[in-house]
Amino acid sequence: RPHRSLSFDLIVLFPRDICPILKDPAALTAVIDLFEDHVRKNHQQLDLIVGLDARGFLFGPLLAQRLGLGFVLVRKKGKLPGTTVSVAYDLEYGKAEVEIQEDAVAPGQKVLLIDDLLATGGTLHAACELMEKLQAQIAGCLVVIELQELKGADKLKPHRVFSLLRY
Ligand code: PRP
Ligand code: MG
Repeated sequence: RPHRSLSFDLIVLFPRDICPILKDPAALTAVIDLFEDHVRKNHQQLDLIVGLDARGFLFGPLLAQRLGLGFVLVRKKGKLPGTTVSVAYDLEYGKAEVEIQEDAVAPGQKVLLIDDLLATGGTLHAACELMEKLQAQIAGCLVVIELQELKGADKLKPHRVFSLLRY
């Protein structure tokens, strides 16, 4: 597939907003195609795709199905039933907390995290901490859009970030 031109088309057509991508079936297919190609080329023996509440849920299950993998939810505090593990993190104003069911990922399982947008990296960083609490192996992070000036990818180091659209 013509990766670069496809990404370029996405940038031109859908700047910084995922809503038009979701509204256009061909664009959504292109996004999942690009993620699938990246994962097949760069990641072996994954166990699970882990998606972030809420907009990571729009892309994660589609990709997981393509790859024949299960999908696990990292949710904002207070939404998941059963015993959960949580991580608090700082926002620009105030605090937030993300949670996962304690048995959602088994120790040693290899996971790829997915969200719609990487800004400061605070949200994905907290999700990575959750994975570490469950002793998962983090293969990397996938996002549709990366706002490079906010240096979220640096915050996530040593974990690798793959983004489709960079601004
Ligand atoms: C947005 C976005 C990412 C996060 C990125 O989520 O969907 O998850 O912010 O910002 P960061 O890199 O600075 O953490 P938000 O919590 O605003 O809302 P959502 O529930 O719609 O996903
Ligand atoms: Mg979000």
